[in-house]
Amino acid sequence: MGKIIVIGSASIDLVVQTEILPEAGETVMGSSFFTNPGGKGANQAVAAARLSNEVYMIGAVGDDDNGKHILSNLEQNNVNTTYMDIIKNEKSGTAHITLFDDDNRIIVVPASNNYVTAESVLPKLKNFSAGDIIVMQHEIPESTIQAVVDYAIDHGMKVILNPAPYRKLDKAIIDKVTWLTPNETESELLFDYQVDDALKAYPHKLIVTKGASGAMYYSDSQQLVEGYKKQVIDTTGAGDTFNGALAVALIENKPLEQAVAFANLAGSYSVTGLGAQGAMPYRKDLE
Ligand code: RIB
Repeated sequence: MGKIIVIGSASIDLVVQTEILPEAGETVMGSSFFTNPGGKGANQAVAAARLSNEVYMIGAVGDDDNGKHILSNLEQNNVNTTYMDIIKNEKSGTAHITLFDDDNRIIVVPASNNYVTAESVLPKLKNFSAGDIIVMQHEIPESTIQAVVDYAIDHGMKVILNPAPYRKLDKAIIDKVTWLTPNETESELLFDYQVDDALKAYPHKLIVTKGASGAMYYSDSQQLVEGYKKQVIDTTGAGDTFNGALAVALIENKPLEQAVAFANLAGSYSVTGLGAQGAMPYRKDLE
C-alpha cells in the first residue's frame, strides 16, 4: 500500500475556555486553561496514523521544549518523524485558542512552521514514490505548496490540499491538486461563485465539508454524504481529523463516497473530547 506524507504545521495549542468573550479593552475571567499538541499538519498526521500505518510528517519545530513535546507526541502516535527539522534559535509554532459557545477562535503564530520551505521539503520527497498521497494545509508558506504540487504531478503522487486557514489560492494549484477540501466558508471565499457551482466545476476533486451535516462533492450530480451527530465538547481539529481519515481511505483505494463517509465518521468522533487530538478515533472505534 502507498504511504501518506503530511507536509505542514506542527504547533502547541494554548487553550482558554471562557463563558464570556471579552470586548476590545475588556478583561474577563476564563474557566480553564490547558496546552496540547496541535497544528493542522500534525493533527492530520496523527488522525491518519491512528487509523493506518506508514504515515510520515515533513515539518519543522523550534529547538525549545515545545518542539520536543511536539516530536514526542508525533512518535507516540505512530507518525514517522524522520523528516521533521529542528530549527536552531527559533521557537516552535503556537496556536492561541479561545473556546466559547461550542466553537473556537484561533490565532496562529507560525514561527518554526515558516521554515517548511520548498528547499527543505523537495529533497525529502525523493524517499517517496508514485501512488503515495501528500496532505497539505495553509499554515506553511504558499511557495512550498506550489513547489510540492508540481513535484507531485511530475512523480505521479496524489495531493489532498486542505485550504485552511483561508488565503488566496492560485487557480493553477486548484487545477493541479487531486482533491481540495475546504469547509463551506473557505469554499465561498476561494471561488467567485456559489458552492454548488464550484462543486460542479471540479467534479471528484472539490470536497466541501459541512461539519456534522457531512460533506459534498460532485459526481454525475451533487452528492451529500451525511455526517454523524455527536455531543460536542470541542470542535477543534474536527476538519483535520476528516482530512487525515480521508487520506487513509483514499490510500486504501476506497471509492470517493466511501472515503468521505469514513472521514465524516472519524471527524464526528473528534468533537467528543477536549483538544485537537484528544478524541481522534483509532481504527477499532470506527469498526
Ligand atoms: O485545526 C485546528 C488547529 O488549528 C489547532 O490545533 C491549531 O493548532 C490551529 O492550527
